[in-house]
Amino acid sequence: MAAYGFYEIGKEFYLLRSGEPEFHRNIYFKRFVGPDGRTVNMIMDPGTKLDLNEIVKVSKQLFGGIANIDIIFVSHQDPDLTSNLDAIMSAAPRSLVLASMDTWRLIRMYGLPERRFKAIEDFRTDTLRIKKTGHTVKFIPAHYCHFRGAMMFYDFESRVLFTGDFLGGTNTRTGEGIFATEESWDGIALFHQIYMPTKSVVRETIDRIGLLDPFPEVIAPQHGDVIKGKLIFEFLNRLMDLDVGIDLLEKAKPEKEVVILAINDFLEKLKAFSTSIYQLILNDMRKPGQFTTTFVVSGDMVTDLKIDINDALRLIWNLIERYTSANPTDAGRVKGLLIQVLNEYKIKLPFRLKPEESKPFKEILSDM
Ligand SMILES: [Fe+2]
Ligand SMILES: [Fe+2]
Repeated sequence: MAAYGFYEIGKEFYLLRSGEPEFHRNIYFKRFVGPDGRTVNMIMDPGTKLDLNEIVKVSKQLFGGIANIDIIFVSHQDPDLTSNLDAIMSAAPRSLVLASMDTWRLIRMYGLPERRFKAIEDFRTDTLRIKKTGHTVKFIPAHYCHFRGAMMFYDFESRVLFTGDFLGGTNTRTGEGIFATEESWDGIALFHQIYMPTKSVVRETIDRIGLLDPFPEVIAPQHGDVIKGKLIFEFLNRLMDLDVGIDLLEKAKPEKEVVILAINDFLEKLKAFSTSIYQLILNDMRKPGQFTTTFVVSGDMVTDLKIDINDALRLIWNLIERYTSANPTDAGRVKGLLIQVLNEYKIKLPFRLKPEESKPFKEILSDM
């Protein structure tokens, strides 16, 4: 597995990122240092057992040891960020877990001691002052994004907003580094389409972020890229209008069945054209993927799509490109085959073909 990365993303605000190329876990650390040098040490969404060794190393470097962690903030209950809690709480005997009541109700099932939990709802105000160091911080609900009791955390000193799964993404950016570019959007959109229940709750969370004063300079999600500057506004604007979860299911109802029929028809024709390309593509469609199933395949048939139909067609197009990259003639023929089948079912490709791409198809289609 690729190595972990460690970065400072704001004043005394650090990111430890797991090494998977397609879907990262981001674990964050914050060191509050008071004017007299006294510190409060915090970890956010502390990952899984796989991450424990790295957390020990980073805590040593930042806090002088894992035993010195004071606060463990947990955005929601999922195991990709909570399955380490018992180990970290034992190693850091003074630490307190901060989370919503909804989150606690589930994470206490790990056998965590109640006396070391503090519910965010119990604070009298949502902006808090850390007495020992003088810093102010704020907890912001992200209701139903993607969990009823999901919480975000804003550090006024660094102006970093830790958003948990909200604004997270799978990795669609090429190149090194941790900061989002335009290329990150597809992964963010896909992640929200799959995990967020409906657009209205996404909008509510965006509205709550919009009320933060001063507005955050850095968005730090639990997966994917760290978002800075203008891209924060750009991505929040796009998310306002993105159909997700149940919105997609409802919208896709009349058409999805037809797209599934067309995909199966295409696969059958592809098998007759080239069994090897057919096998490669079908195997890939069958794979559960790094983070979720996109196609449900039973036997040799696609029986359901777990993503928007246009994204499914785009994915098939990408698979064709991947498995025909060594042979441009095959690439043209297989793409032509897909376009021909989609035409028969009166389904449009969800993107425009480049002129140099569409010309050979026309020729191929006329020979077929
Ligand atoms: Fe989650
Ligand atoms: Fe997550």
